[in-house]
Amino acid sequence: MRRIQVPLGGRSYSIYAGPGLLARLGKHCGQLELGKRCAVLTDTNVAPLYGDAALDTLRGAGFEPLLVTVPAGERAKDLRVVARCYDQLAAHRLERSSFVVALGGGVVGDLAGFVAATYLRGIDFVQVPTTLLAQVDSSVGGKVGVNLRAGKNLVGAFHQPRLVLCDQATLKTLPDREFVAGLAEVIKYGVIRDAALFRKLERTMPRLRKRDPVLLSEVVARCCHIKAEVVGQDETEGGVRAILNFGHTIGHALEAISRYGRFLHGEAISIGQTLAARLSCEALGLSRAEASRIVGLFQAAGLPIEVTLNRRSQRALVAAMQHDKKVSAGVVRFVLVPRIGDAQFGISLPMDQVTRAVAEARKVSLWRE
Ligand SMILES: NC(=O)c1ccc[n+]([C@@H]2O[C@H](COP(=O)([O-])OP(=O)(O)OC[C@H]3O[C@@H](n4cnc5c(N)ncnc54)[C@H](O)[C@@H]3O)[C@@H](O)[C@H]2O)c1
Ligand SMILES: [Zn+2]
Repeated sequence: MRRIQVPLGGRSYSIYAGPGLLARLGKHCGQLELGKRCAVLTDTNVAPLYGDAALDTLRGAGFEPLLVTVPAGERAKDLRVVARCYDQLAAHRLERSSFVVALGGGVVGDLAGFVAATYLRGIDFVQVPTTLLAQVDSSVGGKVGVNLRAGKNLVGAFHQPRLVLCDQATLKTLPDREFVAGLAEVIKYGVIRDAALFRKLERTMPRLRKRDPVLLSEVVARCCHIKAEVVGQDETEGGVRAILNFGHTIGHALEAISRYGRFLHGEAISIGQTLAARLSCEALGLSRAEASRIVGLFQAAGLPIEVTLNRRSQRALVAAMQHDKKVSAGVVRFVLVPRIGDAQFGISLPMDQVTRAVAEARKVSLWRE
């Protein structure tokens, strides 16, 4: 088991990574001076797999947990679902000292975190992420929220968990496409911050894809460490936290123009990072050799690195980038990498350069030849 401390003054917390940790959830919660009553919020896929295990370990430690199950998938991040959760918490008489456990992927984490941030003006919450994406990304950093019809994550809060428990044994049951999508975020950490992690991923990708739990827990711990460090320097995203968005301006635009249907987030940002690597060659002098290693690692992970778009979709993609929530005054700022393991944020590029890169995106794979 590995432990990462997230340094946020009075709201500091620990992230634990290791296979089999779910069984120790109750014991870990028992060390936090939380009230007895709690709710385990999960979804219809995860409840039959890990719901009982979570309830058992909490009961074993003297807690009185209630299981709250929401529909699986992005549509659960909805204010109507939030309202139904509040009603269940109230019926179970959760009080100020009570807490919510988020047992599931990023959807459950964001939803449960938002419920916890707002119920009784805020109660404690614990993250037990069960997707690779949630273990390396969404469970760390304190961003919680739900969607509106107008767009994703438009209502939310910053609410830090008291504890994050990442059990790599739970990743065994994850559908392969979801697991591979999570690898896009894992690779991102190597590209933006850690050349040694990047090399380790190059060496071990086949074993990682087989979900070797010990290797996975090392890698997850390293990714959490990087995210915690970045978030610790910039909790509310004024500066360096932006580097975590490498490949995301393009990736989000790709998700938006395909109406969040064609690509999983990880797939979209794999294509986005590939394009951002290409822009990095032009704008920051990233070497062709390193760009080609980046593209190669996404391919080895089984992720898409290119997309064929007709002219209309190309225009829609560029327009969608300009609509991204993080764009201000119409200027699109990119995170780019001068070398593997190092990123720079806030780089504005002429829109025609971006348009050209998008038009040539499907040739990206030719770099490798
Ligand atoms: N808060 C943040 O900082 C942050 C960061 C990144 C992403 N997000 C959010 O995370 C969400 C995506 O998260 P996700 O990719 O984990 O999706 P998800 O929560 O929808 O999970 C993916 C699928 O896997 C299933 N599942 C989860 N764990 C499983 C397991 N162990 N075995 C079998 N099936 C399992 C789920 O039921 C779901 O069908 C998005 O809503 C996104 O906005 C938030
Ligand atoms: Zn992401």
